[in-house]
Amino acid sequence: PAAHDDLRDLQDLPSYPKERDDYINPARALLTGPPISPLRFAGGSVGWLVTGYHEAREVLRDPRFSAERWRGDDAMRPVPESVRRDRSSGAGSFLAMDAPEHGHYRGQLTRYFTVRRMRELEARIEDIVADQLDALEAAGKPADLVRHFALPIPSLVICEMLGVPYEERELFQSVAARLLRQDRTDEEFVAGKTELDTFLRTLVEAKRKDPRDDLISLLTAVDELNDEEIGGIAGLLLIAGHETTTNMLSLGTFALLRDPGQLERLRADESLLPQAVEELLRYLSIVNAFPVRIALEDVVVGGVTITAGQSVAVSVPAANRDPALVDDPDTLDVGRPRSSHLAFGYGIHQCLGQHLARIELVAGYRGLLRRFPGLRLAVPRRRSGCAATWSSTEPTNCPSPGDGAGPD
Ligand code: HEM
Repeated sequence: PAAHDDLRDLQDLPSYPKERDDYINPARALLTGPPISPLRFAGGSVGWLVTGYHEAREVLRDPRFSAERWRGDDAMRPVPESVRRDRSSGAGSFLAMDAPEHGHYRGQLTRYFTVRRMRELEARIEDIVADQLDALEAAGKPADLVRHFALPIPSLVICEMLGVPYEERELFQSVAARLLRQDRTDEEFVAGKTELDTFLRTLVEAKRKDPRDDLISLLTAVDELNDEEIGGIAGLLLIAGHETTTNMLSLGTFALLRDPGQLERLRADESLLPQAVEELLRYLSIVNAFPVRIALEDVVVGGVTITAGQSVAVSVPAANRDPALVDDPDTLDVGRPRSSHLAFGYGIHQCLGQHLARIELVAGYRGLLRRFPGLRLAVPRRRSGCAATWSSTEPTNCPSPGDGAGPD
């Protein structure tokens, strides 16, 4: 394989094409390039972009690629230098840890996120969906799908699980939106993170004194975890648990509304819903410019040598549109048999909340289709001018696809 430790000498490396074509589709450059290619990250450092399905799985399952952010350089933006270098600020947040530390924390949670456990929550999730359908209807026409439906459902669910008072949603919803914005400054990131950490630390202390029937209280009973670590775990769940699902609910509805044939198929046969959810997860791949890993040693992937220390950005949207995964990948097909897509990642960091997300998505789409047979967009769709990372509901420069979607 060609040695690529001389990447820094290359002058004209492309940058990461993060901007989506029209909310739905990944940038064309991501779909037309080779499965793995050199690129220049926003901060100027060089690394690799993986767009091939098999190559993406190879990277994500290989322990020689680290998820520890403090190892990386500018490639790991949007996490600022000060946060990356201060390892203590990431206590408990196992998304950015490697084995065995990662397993130590994740292992405390897996029993609360099993398929069986999540099924037990199903009835409660359906109640939450029904309430939000009422709220959407009460909002009158046209209604904002994100505000009344797509955002409150996952927020309420994760708040109930964790025992976070929903009245405090302003704080964590706005912090989440700020942390995940690509155009926010480092100062904004640090301020938002400090605000969230302080809020959660106070909550953990309160639960330790007065435990309730919720996940944070249960974690306070685990001897190996201190308050800072429990706060870190709660913060990770709180942020990972609502933005992503919100974006799937809103963008999924948008994708169906602009593809009436698929929408009608789903309305005519509700039994397609579970596989339609998998297909929407694949097709939309809302985790847009993530994950990123750092090579701990020289590793050969797809015929190129990634040198120790170099960053590798895995494009989930591109990998999920690779013909190596499914035939005709750019077509949304709600009847497509379930694929082994990478929307929830792969390897040890594969999404802990995936069973929960699936239940929320099936219940959410089903409720919406049943309650509003004439659901349609209230405003013409616009082309995207924003680059979504984890977030496509950014309030400032990124008009939400749910804006104006109204029940009929
Ligand atoms: C990890 C996607 C919903 C909790 C991940 C990863 C992806 C992902 C791609 C892997 C990141 C990596 O490899 O670095 C999604 C999508 C969701 C969703 C598309 C909704 C449709 C949720 C929910 C929760 C959650 C509802 C929590 C209740 C987590 C956690 C991790 C994670 C804790 C870190 C796992 C680890 O590092 O071991 N998610 N997620 N996610 N997700 Fe999700």
